[in-house]
Amino acid sequence: MRKGMVALAAVGLMAAGSTAACGGDDSSESSGSGSSGSSIGKVGVILPDTASSQRWGSDDPKFLKAAFDAAGVTVDIQNAQGDKSQFQTIADGMISSGVKVLMIVNLDSGTGKAVLDKAKAAGIATIDYDRLTLNGGANYYVSFDNTAVGKLQGEGLVKCLTDMKASKPVVAELNGSPTDNNATLFKEGYDSVLKPKYDSGDYVKGPDQSVPDWDNAQAATIFEQMLTQNNKIKGVLAANDGLGNAVISVLKKQSLNGKVPVTGQDATVQGLQNILSGDQCMTVYKAIKQEADAAADLAISLAKGEKKDVTQSVTDPESNSSVPAVLLTPKAIYKDSVKDVVADGFVTKDQLCTGDFAKLCTDNGVS
Ligand code: BGC
Repeated sequence: MRKGMVALAAVGLMAAGSTAACGGDDSSESSGSGSSGSSIGKVGVILPDTASSQRWGSDDPKFLKAAFDAAGVTVDIQNAQGDKSQFQTIADGMISSGVKVLMIVNLDSGTGKAVLDKAKAAGIATIDYDRLTLNGGANYYVSFDNTAVGKLQGEGLVKCLTDMKASKPVVAELNGSPTDNNATLFKEGYDSVLKPKYDSGDYVKGPDQSVPDWDNAQAATIFEQMLTQNNKIKGVLAANDGLGNAVISVLKKQSLNGKVPVTGQDATVQGLQNILSGDQCMTVYKAIKQEADAAADLAISLAKGEKKDVTQSVTDPESNSSVPAVLLTPKAIYKDSVKDVVADGFVTKDQLCTGDFAKLCTDNGVS
């Protein structure tokens, strides 16, 4: 009973806080520096690195901050820069600073679980953002349908190979980090499309390797070795735009870029430019704003002490428990739909259409 009253009071306060923010010049007031957001409770967010994808350094923090600011809720967003002990240190700091909700993108499930366990022991609600922490037991999971992401990549590669009239192409697979559950799901998705092609003899299965920590430099080395061992590779399933760009850089050295279709994911500026120049076949656009908004929405409810019902769930393959989830829908992007990513406001024309890309943008209807 009392709890309900406190929650109601918090909602009232929040409404008052956001009205005030709307009346003013919102960017400064809505940062929730403590006075207006204090009764709701602070939220901590730990992002993984800034090297494996453009998103963690710029897109996710931008959209998350905007969502919390709009609600007048104080948020502390930090990035572990690929360092697992730094990840733990950030978590310890957030827990002792009294966050009410902790949202993480783990660097691997083991260290992620250690952090979730500590948070739970301190009575803090937890959200797995984008990556499920196996056996982690977070209160919620917010992500995209990651098997669907992989399926779009597999179908994309098939489409590009078909357009090129490739006959019995050797296909190489460059998977994401073996410690990232998403990489497992992406692979499940694209293999569900490619395996029947291998089985029927339409395609020939080539080298298939994971890239530790999604490291782009290692990806280039791995692909260079793949190509040395099998110079007949005619298509590459690369699990994200960073890995795709590493593959393209190796193909360029042999003037094979544009002749061997390469997939990607994340609709990064670099990935979209590689698509415009014809070096990359497709990418998968995941509207990070939707993901950030959904996660912030849940975090804000938890910070207010409310429980929010969601309609989806995933089964943690290690613990077999069901985790309430929000899973968003990804979209495949080809040369003729690069413009859709710009229209959605994810990438601006100024970022994309630089130098030689200006003409390619015009030719492909990017405005
Ligand atoms: C994310 C991708 C990202 C990759 C590397 C995955 O868990 O879902 O969007 O490209 O990690 O950071």
